[in-house]
Amino acid sequence: MKSLTDCFVLNNGVEIPCVGFGTWQTPDGDVAVASVKAAIACGYRHIDTAAAYNNEKSVGIAVKESGVKREDLFITSKLANPCHGYDATMRAFDQTLEQLDMQYLDLYLIHWPNPAPFRDHWQEANAGTWRAFEENYNAGRIRALGISNFMPHHIRALMQTATVAPAVNQIRLCPGCVDEATVQYCNAHDILLEAYSPLGTGRIFDVPQMQQLSEKYGKTIAQICLRWSMQQGFLPLPKSVTPARIAENTDVFGFELSTQDMALIANLTGCCGEARDPDKTAF
Ligand SMILES: NC(=O)c1ccc[n+]([C@@H]2O[C@H](COP(=O)([O-])OP(=O)(O)OC[C@H]3O[C@@H](n4cnc5c(N)ncnc54)[C@H](OP(=O)(O)O)[C@@H]3O)[C@@H](O)[C@H]2O)c1
Repeated sequence: MKSLTDCFVLNNGVEIPCVGFGTWQTPDGDVAVASVKAAIACGYRHIDTAAAYNNEKSVGIAVKESGVKREDLFITSKLANPCHGYDATMRAFDQTLEQLDMQYLDLYLIHWPNPAPFRDHWQEANAGTWRAFEENYNAGRIRALGISNFMPHHIRALMQTATVAPAVNQIRLCPGCVDEATVQYCNAHDILLEAYSPLGTGRIFDVPQMQQLSEKYGKTIAQICLRWSMQQGFLPLPKSVTPARIAENTDVFGFELSTQDMALIANLTGCCGEARDPDKTAF
């Protein structure tokens, strides 16, 4: 990959720009509109939102005001936890398109595999949800289907009834936080891994080893971190509401981390905290 507009090709042939712009915890309204517009102006063509972030409306406004055509952007959203099952998913998807004021999504994800309200029948709930996903996919309202926070046992259960395989799994992947079993499973099944919280939700900046690498390569900690993610074949989704950082996080091409430094970063176990266990979340 040489620029933000370079793409991975998903397992259904759809192209996805190799870095996405994150929007979790970005307040709806002026901040979300301004930061998404700043990202698009800096060259991002891939925006990651979710119904649960409560900022889809602002993302839609930013896209319209950006001056970039809808078809030149890649927009992802996610199904909120209370809405699993066929009927609720159909309603939730319509609402997401309405909020974004768009005719279609490029990628729609099940946000969590096993939300608390469905814990005793999550397999059945996901099967109904996926049937709704496939119906909207076959109707041309979603270009690619995916999942988030799924571990291999969740994917295997989904595949019992799925007719369209997930193209993407979006999971927490940052220095010292890599679920090897899920990474290997997804790589073996042609499911692209998106790295959420690639900067450890801001926790990476206090790690001394990252400071040393920053000095060694003449790059910022964020750039080293995102480069590490990309060199592993992940698609990182950095979030920022700060224009200078939004720009900084795009300068992740044209340098290479050594194998030794890649391993050093991977071994910073726990430096950014652990991923939540999706079978035990309170939501
Ligand atoms: N599927 C899921 O369950 C899930 C869960 C979590 C996240 N995600 C997705 O992944 C995206 C990214 O994850 P994240 O929001 O946890 O955080 P992140 O991208 O790992 O880190 C964002 C934090 O780092 C700061 N930051 C960004 N760039 C910086 C830079 N160059 N220098 C210094 N600080 C910088 C940001 O501050 P400012 O904003 O104040 O600049 C913010 O506090 C989310 O926004 C969301 O789209 C998905």
